[in-house]
Amino acid sequence: MRRFTVAIDGPAAAGKGTIGRALAARFGFAHLDTGLLYRAVALKMLEAGGPLDAGHAARIARDLVPADIEALGLRRSEVTRESSRIAAIPKVRSALLDFQRSFSRRDGGAVLDGRDIATVIAPDAELKLYVTAEDDVRARRRLKELSNSGIHTTFGKVLADLRERDRRDQNRGLAALRRTDDAILLDTTELSIAQAVEEAAAAVNERFDAVR
Ligand code: CDP
Repeated sequence: MRRFTVAIDGPAAAGKGTIGRALAARFGFAHLDTGLLYRAVALKMLEAGGPLDAGHAARIARDLVPADIEALGLRRSEVTRESSRIAAIPKVRSALLDFQRSFSRRDGGAVLDGRDIATVIAPDAELKLYVTAEDDVRARRRLKELSNSGIHTTFGKVLADLRERDRRDQNRGLAALRRTDDAILLDTTELSIAQAVEEAAAAVNERFDAVR
């Protein structure tokens, strides 16, 4: 199959990864959770200790290898928090650009989820989805996910963290999170995972018909 790119953006813990993985499995697309790239840089920075230095972060970003996005600890709270600070550094973002752009153009189709997929990484994507949900619903889902992976925290902390990250992600000078006019809005507040995936899959099928 020729190129077909699905760009998924949205705020923290909205269900982008779950939907992205499900679409990839159903349509045979490759999937990239781009948040893992920023998390991997953050984890390495934290492991190295010391203060945040933009040049150092950019070198880590440039030298990432595929195994880095499978490292243990990428979902830890300090890593999550640090990832959104690191994501505001222009040199870090530019070091990760080529890899993501070429991933988005793979033969056989690709689905990428993140914050700047429709705006920066794949502005020509055949399908753009903006996935969101109310804050407290996102926090509850993230709390459950964390507790299933053995990370114990509180609802209040998770909610405060995701609000802070959303604010930072939406207000940074570069590649800020925003919904583009051509993105389909998928509000998952009242939807089960299966329902959200069905809506996204229907949108893929519709675009398939339109571009073929
Ligand atoms: O899973 P969750 O939605 O909580 O976060 P994530 O997608 O793993 O992203 C972690 C952080 O990386 C975000 O808060 C953003 O600051 C940053 N990020 C970004 O700037 N651009 C992307 N394309 C993906 C993530």
